[in-house]
Amino acid sequence: MSVQIDHLHSESGSRRFAPTAEFSAQAEASPELYSDAQADRLGFWADQSRELLHWHKPFTKILDWTNPPFAKWFDDGELNVAYNCLDRHVEAGNGDRVALHFEGEPGDSRDITYAELTAEVKRATNVLIKLGVKSGDRVAIYLPMIPEAVISMLAVARLGAVHSVIFGGFSAESLRSRIDDANAVLVITADGGFRKGRISALKPAVDAALQSGDSSVQNVLVVKRTGQDVEWNDRDLWWHDELASVEAEHVAEAFPAENPLFILYTSGTTGAPKGILHTSGGYLTQGAFTHKNVFDLKPETDVYWCTADVGWITGHTYVVYGPLANGATQVLFEGTPDSPHPGRWWEIIEKYKVSILYTAPTAIRTFMKLGRQIPQKFDLTSLRVLGSVGEPINPEAWMWYREVIGGNITPVVDTWWQTETGAIMVSAIPGLTETKPGAAQVAIPGIAIDVLDDDGTHVGHGNGGLLVVTEPWPAMLRGIWGDPERFKETYWDKFEGTTGAKDGPLYFAGDGARLDDDGDIWLLGRVDDVMNVSGHRLSTAEIESSLVAHPLTAEAAVVGASDEVTGQAVVAFVVIKFSQAETASHEDISAVLRAHVSQQIGAIARPREIFIVDELPKTRSGKIMRRLLRDVAEGREVGDTSTLADTSVMQIITQKMK
Ligand code: WTA
Repeated sequence: MSVQIDHLHSESGSRRFAPTAEFSAQAEASPELYSDAQADRLGFWADQSRELLHWHKPFTKILDWTNPPFAKWFDDGELNVAYNCLDRHVEAGNGDRVALHFEGEPGDSRDITYAELTAEVKRATNVLIKLGVKSGDRVAIYLPMIPEAVISMLAVARLGAVHSVIFGGFSAESLRSRIDDANAVLVITADGGFRKGRISALKPAVDAALQSGDSSVQNVLVVKRTGQDVEWNDRDLWWHDELASVEAEHVAEAFPAENPLFILYTSGTTGAPKGILHTSGGYLTQGAFTHKNVFDLKPETDVYWCTADVGWITGHTYVVYGPLANGATQVLFEGTPDSPHPGRWWEIIEKYKVSILYTAPTAIRTFMKLGRQIPQKFDLTSLRVLGSVGEPINPEAWMWYREVIGGNITPVVDTWWQTETGAIMVSAIPGLTETKPGAAQVAIPGIAIDVLDDDGTHVGHGNGGLLVVTEPWPAMLRGIWGDPERFKETYWDKFEGTTGAKDGPLYFAGDGARLDDDGDIWLLGRVDDVMNVSGHRLSTAEIESSLVAHPLTAEAAVVGASDEVTGQAVVAFVVIKFSQAETASHEDISAVLRAHVSQQIGAIARPREIFIVDELPKTRSGKIMRRLLRDVAEGREVGDTSTLADTSVMQIITQKMK
């Protein structure tokens, strides 16, 4: 098991923070959530769903698990996801409440109320209809963090169509492969966005993606954000022209609970990213439930801010669907934490009196490095709940977050979940849980989690193993787009037929975990070839195949080496083709290959380091031993090499590194 963050082992809950009496007294969540869910898990979710959402047609069935691993939740009910996030708040008299405090990178800002957001989404939906988009069609969204990203997602949802948001940092090639996989009929993009004080173009990547060969895309809808020059094709339309050309009114239609809502591509252990499919009723139920209870949301008074980009699952569930379903007021920020100055985030918190902050350990560690004097210049006393997501949070970072950002008083919740789980699965609940720095701790009410060893036996307190979900959950992925076999294989086959396993399918998450002496869960990192860089999932195999696609490369192995700030960093070991080896310096080759990966996949996948080696360490059956390369990349003594076909390889590699 490739457990990365070893120092998590040493912390076993010696520091604890009980909820304060004041916090508990006002908390949304009550201990009955756990007991109710315990007594009747399905009834509990049905109650939550009825309470949190508006069903146009109430459901009578809760879970259909007759054809596992294909689940159906609330199957005979009908709802409209966008109506739940918009119209009903306006109808309830909350139209004047701010939905989005948009803060642009150059400092422009705009408050958008629920009434305004609803009006924009209605128009955008009418544009989609005008362009021939129908329920079930796929729409690709490739936008910066601007209100139009949220509006586009909701307009697609309102129509019962399926969005596929592609993070703006992905390359034209990544964009094209995702468009093709889903046969998207429309792309919504922008001329560009602002990043670190500069304009960065987006539309040229869409043009490049659609340039070669036939594509399913009929139109490209372009938001004018930066005003830079763009090339114009017949299929292109300006967002503002189109929105002005349609009717303002649109009445939301109800769709079945299991209507697909979105596809989101994520990295797996093998080459091509998987299109994770989520549907409507169950996803929105768990998204709204967790957003309310894990963050103790009071929609009337809180100002919530999740710093994730809508290109990732955290942005889907905790920028768009959870908060808007709950009628929250939130900050939407286009920029980066350190531009134009390293206090930008804290300035935003002071400006909007943010009360709930949800971010990633990487950001916290970056701020730690910069020093506490930066946040201390700002008034952060509005904060009352802090959340963490995306990677294991080391106890030091957790403590710093609580002390420096949370004024030594705010609860910190470390939330474990995945693109596949759709919503938070493991987390403390503020006001209820006594928190431990560095641990995600307990399953959310209504979620069944276990830690098992390889043969499916429960590991018992004090032991480590594999994190498993033992019962279907409302926001679970419904499959991998177009590939039901891969869905079964990747997540459900692992424990099939194992001796210790309980009856029924077990969901294998791909994470290692440990139970402490109290039975609390500590996440230990991935056990497969998925890396986690700054909370972003990257596949070793995908980067390796990009490297070997370059004419210079004969072979490549990629590992995630632990990194103080980003959690892990991409490190590549490359064997150069013999004919090329003499002609260029190692520095040149490595620069060329880093640029190549950036262009093929996106800048987030660019290796931090590339080592040019003569050979890769392989077992006798030809499997690359990444464990040994990780030792090298992390500057450790190389571990056991006895299973290598040629045991001298590692000696040669390590000598070269010195
Ligand atoms: C990791 C992000 C430890 C984990 C929501 C998981 C975490 C992967 C945590 C999913 C956490 C996420 N503690 N590890 N609190 N949250 N992870 O799909 O390895 O981008 O499998 O979803 O991130 O990443 P994804």
